[in-house]
Amino acid sequence: MKFTCTAALTGLASLFCTQMAAADDIDVGVLLPFSGVYAALGNEIEAGFTLGLETFGSDLDVEIVLHREDTEVTPATGLTRARRLILQDDVDVMVGIVSSGVLGAIRDIVHGAEVPLIVANAGNDEATGADCSPYITRVSFSNSQVNRPMGTWMADQGIGTVYTLAPDYAAGRQMIDAFTAAYTAAGGTVVGSDFTPFQQTQDFGPYIAQAQASGAEALYVFYAGGEAISFVNQYDSFGAAEGLPLYGSGFLTSQLYVNAEGESADGIVTALHYVPTIDSPENAAFVEAFQAANDRLPSEFAVQGYDAARALIEALSTGANDRESIATALRQVSFTGPRGLLSIDPVTNNLIQPIYVYETVTGTDGMTQTVLAELPAEADPANGCAMPSVVSN
Ligand code: PHB
Repeated sequence: MKFTCTAALTGLASLFCTQMAAADDIDVGVLLPFSGVYAALGNEIEAGFTLGLETFGSDLDVEIVLHREDTEVTPATGLTRARRLILQDDVDVMVGIVSSGVLGAIRDIVHGAEVPLIVANAGNDEATGADCSPYITRVSFSNSQVNRPMGTWMADQGIGTVYTLAPDYAAGRQMIDAFTAAYTAAGGTVVGSDFTPFQQTQDFGPYIAQAQASGAEALYVFYAGGEAISFVNQYDSFGAAEGLPLYGSGFLTSQLYVNAEGESADGIVTALHYVPTIDSPENAAFVEAFQAANDRLPSEFAVQGYDAARALIEALSTGANDRESIATALRQVSFTGPRGLLSIDPVTNNLIQPIYVYETVTGTDGMTQTVLAELPAEADPANGCAMPSVVSN
């Protein structure tokens, strides 16, 4: 396998760029945020994807041409860029999407144009629920999947009341809804909830003060990227940790930026589908290779990119070579990767994977993660998904 690209790739990937591609190439659209609050996430997914192509693609007798587009964190931009990849670049498959809002915006063109999309982050529940499509396969997580287990787990720990906060967009709403449903079903009470303007909130102080005033036993939040760093630092400087311990979905304390949060993150308990301290041979090999290539530990975003590449290579290895056959093959991939055994739920095309509850602690070499519980893999409910079949041309 050889890589080429149609737009300048950064870092390691640029080593693989050549000028022109042969006629029977596989054209892959890479749709990620390279600017905006999730830019670091986009770069990290790309680093994992590049490593995955190198690691798993060496025996593949096909040239992969990457077409790279910046979605920003803006649904309208994501839609324009997806249209370009589908209609102008005529890609065979697309990979990426970080924001649930962007995934919601491009869902109809992906489904309508019958172009397979490997979702490498965006957790939008609808994309593997009521808006599911045989062309949308998720190798990341769903918003429900990483929050539902924490609702049950926190109630089981005897935490009786919680206040919730999240950014006001699809992912924030879905994550808090999933947490709240599981937490209240297990006997907990959500005493208050608020949503902060997405990409516009610099000062979380008033929201944290409101959570403190609610008298809740704990605070549960979703924040990611730059917003997570600001939130955790401000929560700490408010002295909120004293009476209001912080919990959340694990993007809050992602390996990608937990060292920018520093000791402000110490003691925060969250849940996620991947932490770099998972003790398995597959993870050890991945951590070593990612560190060698990037000089840092990998995060969940890196593993999502890495597994997206592996899923693509596995699909292409079956001989799939056009939109329809790639879509069909992607739905059947299954492998044991750095985060454990992964398989695609044929009912929804969502990933089935274990979830890890972890505490962020201060280590000898920066912040690190102690796994408190590995919760068994379970499929999300179908959430209204009536999976249409792949259309044969
Ligand atoms: C999302 O919008 O679905 C999203 C974004 C960033 C994350 C997780 C989910 O870290």
